[in-house]
Amino acid sequence: MKALLLAGGTGSRLRPFTHTGAKQLLPIANRPVLFYALEALAAAGITETGIVVGAHEQEIRRAAGDGSAFGLRLTYLYQDRPLGLAHAVHIARDFLGDDDFVLYLGDNYLSEGVTAFVDRARQQTASARLLLTRVADPSAFGVAELDDADGTVLNLEEKPEHPRSDLALVGVYAFTPDIHEAVRAITPSARGELEITHAVQWMIDRGLTVRAETTTAPWRDTGSVDDMLEANRHVLDRLAGGIEGKVDADSVVRGRVLVAEGAVVRGSRITGPVIIGAGTVVTDSSIGPYTAVAEDCSIEDSAIAHSVLLPGARIAGAPRIEDSLIGRGATVVSGPRLSRSHRLVVGDHSKVHLTS
Ligand code: TTP
Repeated sequence: MKALLLAGGTGSRLRPFTHTGAKQLLPIANRPVLFYALEALAAAGITETGIVVGAHEQEIRRAAGDGSAFGLRLTYLYQDRPLGLAHAVHIARDFLGDDDFVLYLGDNYLSEGVTAFVDRARQQTASARLLLTRVADPSAFGVAELDDADGTVLNLEEKPEHPRSDLALVGVYAFTPDIHEAVRAITPSARGELEITHAVQWMIDRGLTVRAETTTAPWRDTGSVDDMLEANRHVLDRLAGGIEGKVDADSVVRGRVLVAEGAVVRGSRITGPVIIGAGTVVTDSSIGPYTAVAEDCSIEDSAIAHSVLLPGARIAGAPRIEDSLIGRGATVVSGPRLSRSHRLVVGDHSKVHLTS
């Protein structure tokens, strides 16, 4: 069994971060989302992994290397345009050969990994196996309709206006080589992509067996800011705390808090779960809960909760920041106290919510 890990794409929902970096490298509890996927594949006993990359290829190569740090052998497969998940399978044809494989979307976070799913796929007699989860808003997802009698998949729809079930596709699939004929046969969808749901539907229509299993374990497609923050909350909840850096006697630390070696906390209140990366300095501030501060950040005279800071971010004099994702090297500072205006230097496709 091989794996095909998708780390290309446009990442339009995560602009402006994806203007300058790969969304699969945005951190959850200070580790790239992609690393959780690499670990999950290795834990499932997979070694040979193809990784589809696009515009941010070099950055992903620098982060994931040859995969040996994860116990994997990575083969990089360049997709010159993000023409869809089925297109990514198409360009991986030579790498995949005639092996069964797991298709894993590199921006998906699955709390329980994929070991059980892969084990069942290894024993499967189906051409494709899908992982599903019940969601409140199925119209935002790929949705499956199952045969109640035997659990086979009858029908798949991409973001349907009138969903036939609440079973959404999680970003992990298992395929036999039967998928290759399907990806060759389908044509681009209305949004111009070769959809994996269409390829699977093609298999169903030709009488091939497509099975599904439903998971109740937490799962997030981290393709949007809210989902990133939610995945961050989930991982921080399982954080093993520890004070490896310096926390002075004027500071108060409550709950599970990890202060990495080389981080400094002075005169501050940290309410876990919180992770603070190496080289970060926190002064006279309140951090947490559910906040991940990456390396080399500076937070001064501010309060921040339910947020993620990327490396090198600087926050000073900000009375209350919540539910925010602050980019690499970004600066948030308060203006002169008597000024009633906000001064903003905001990058392309950024979002700012002002409350006063
Ligand atoms: P998506 O999140 O579905 O697509 P996207 O990355 O283009 O994002 P957006 O909708 O915000 O513009 O992609 C799921 C995963 O698959 C993600 O890790 C990117 C990857 N991918 C590819 O590698 N190649 C592709 O052609 C596409 C569409 C996605």
